[in-house]
Amino acid sequence: MPRAHIVTVGVTGASGAVYARAVLRILEADPRVGRVFFVASDAALRLLATELRVVAADAKKLPSMILGAAAKKIEYLPNKDIGASIASGSALVDGMVVVPCSAGAMGSIAAGVADDLLTRAADVCLKERRPLVLCLRETPLNRIHLENMLRVHDAGATVMPAMPAFYYGPKTIDDIVEQYAYRVLAQLGLPQQRQYRWKGGPPAKRA
Ligand SMILES: Cc1cc2nc3c(=O)[nH]c(=O)nc-3n(C[C@H](O)[C@H](O)[C@H](O)COP(=O)(O)O)c2cc1C
Repeated sequence: MPRAHIVTVGVTGASGAVYARAVLRILEADPRVGRVFFVASDAALRLLATELRVVAADAKKLPSMILGAAAKKIEYLPNKDIGASIASGSALVDGMVVVPCSAGAMGSIAAGVADDLLTRAADVCLKERRPLVLCLRETPLNRIHLENMLRVHDAGATVMPAMPAFYYGPKTIDDIVEQYAYRVLAQLGLPQQRQYRWKGGPPAKRA
């Protein structure tokens, strides 16, 4: 039987904390996943408070507060702790997603700056040739952003802007967020049964 997946989820201070919550919820529920490391930048903590109204006096409780239910698999690691397991390529980690990913965090990763746990863990994924998915959330994009997207792509990352699709007819914001999260997890080798799959067919008739 294959070993259970171990995934790192990094959250930065870009808008879109709902995407992080969806990814964490799906990972927590996925029986193929054994463990999730969760690291958030200082700006992410601010965004979690602004967008999800989640503020934790004890950061270790953040995963459960974000989920709104007990997080059994998700372990919070302080971003300042550059000595945490995921800072080393020897730690068992199958891949990492940064969701949402700020332009600043992408810039650090593109430049090889690894001065906190989140950027170090991302750097480790690149050097170990493990999947690294960056859910960039910024618009419009300046030249520096565009160049950094190419740099991280060339270094092995998947740039997956938080850019939802609409061809499957979402009815709610939750539908949009979940379908995006399913596609992110597919990139990490964890395809989800509930991901909408286009079956082809003629264009819809005009009324
Ligand atoms: C309410 C709010 C929304 C923000 N949204 C974005 C965003 O969508 N994309 C982005 O790149 N930065 C955004 N920022 C700015 C980042 O939080 C800021 O650049 C921060 O330094 C990023 O740090 P980090 O990459 O360590 O999380 C936002 C900031 C705030 C306060």
